[in-house]
Amino acid sequence: MRDIPKIELHLHLEGAAPAAFIRGIAKEKSVDLSEIFAEDGSYAYDGFLEFLKVYEAATSVLTTPEDYRRLTREVLSQTAAQGVIHTEFFVSPDFCGGGDVGAWRDYLGAMEEAAEAARVEDGITSRGIVTCIRHFGPEKARAVARCAAETAGGWITGFGIGGDEGMGRLQDFAWSFDCAREAGLGLTAHAGEWGGPDSVRDALSLGVSRVGHGVRAVEDPALMERLAEDGIVLEVCPGSNVALGVYPSWASHPIETLRAKGVPVCVSTDDPPFFHTTMEHEYQRLADVFGWDEGDFAELARVAARAAFCDETFRKELM
Ligand code: ADE
Ligand code: ZN
Repeated sequence: MRDIPKIELHLHLEGAAPAAFIRGIAKEKSVDLSEIFAEDGSYAYDGFLEFLKVYEAATSVLTTPEDYRRLTREVLSQTAAQGVIHTEFFVSPDFCGGGDVGAWRDYLGAMEEAAEAARVEDGITSRGIVTCIRHFGPEKARAVARCAAETAGGWITGFGIGGDEGMGRLQDFAWSFDCAREAGLGLTAHAGEWGGPDSVRDALSLGVSRVGHGVRAVEDPALMERLAEDGIVLEVCPGSNVALGVYPSWASHPIETLRAKGVPVCVSTDDPPFFHTTMEHEYQRLADVFGWDEGDFAELARVAARAAFCDETFRKELM
């Protein structure tokens, strides 16, 4: 599994922070974060809303551009070791300067430095998708969209939204998506993870070309047909869905059904240490549970390469 070339389009930078990395930075800064870790040292949470709280608590120790440089470098080296050749990170100005464009530029510069080092030293390429956080509300999202627009081009090639899908309506974020589109950024939105088919339709109304998760589209045949016809790619994260309880087991996960209906899917880990997963592990489970083979994995990579937020010259290199 390791040697199969993989493209990962849905990876939250802070969510990819190994627990030991966060514990190390907390120790350096004398911050007591013990309540977010289990006895075995992994992240401890019960359910999605608590996961978001633990995610934000872990992120709270990342307070400088240098912390983000170290994090980006560490995550890319671990990801490259999984056979991933290209990664797209969700990165959040809310956590990197609170939506201030000047501060965001400093954090972004540190991430870009690490990304370039990983390209040269580990042979993995990456891009950043600036991401607003739904439960922080539309006003904060506007500041995030301004950060995205100001730094579009280069490493930043996309804009998205994550966070609590139960809060507010995606339409309330339309201004931010319009701003990002005008800046030339690719668009994606988390939807159809906790919300049903209507939530995926809301994402489509923002003009996205990809949907984060989107798996609950499986509940609506007409919607699956629309996704297939329009070539909207679902960034499916089966291990995340099972760990958070969207589906009770890998066997009951709808990725196989979605694919059979012609919906373009690719596979990612979302927040791997939180969900005790890696890209290699996701591929192994797809092989064990659904019998996917090298041909299926090559198709995953083709779909991801077509959907990657990058220019056409670089896309050809990925394909
Ligand atoms: N942020 C990090 N992981 C997420 C997920 N699975 N859903 C929504 N927001 C997230
Ligand atoms: Zn996600």
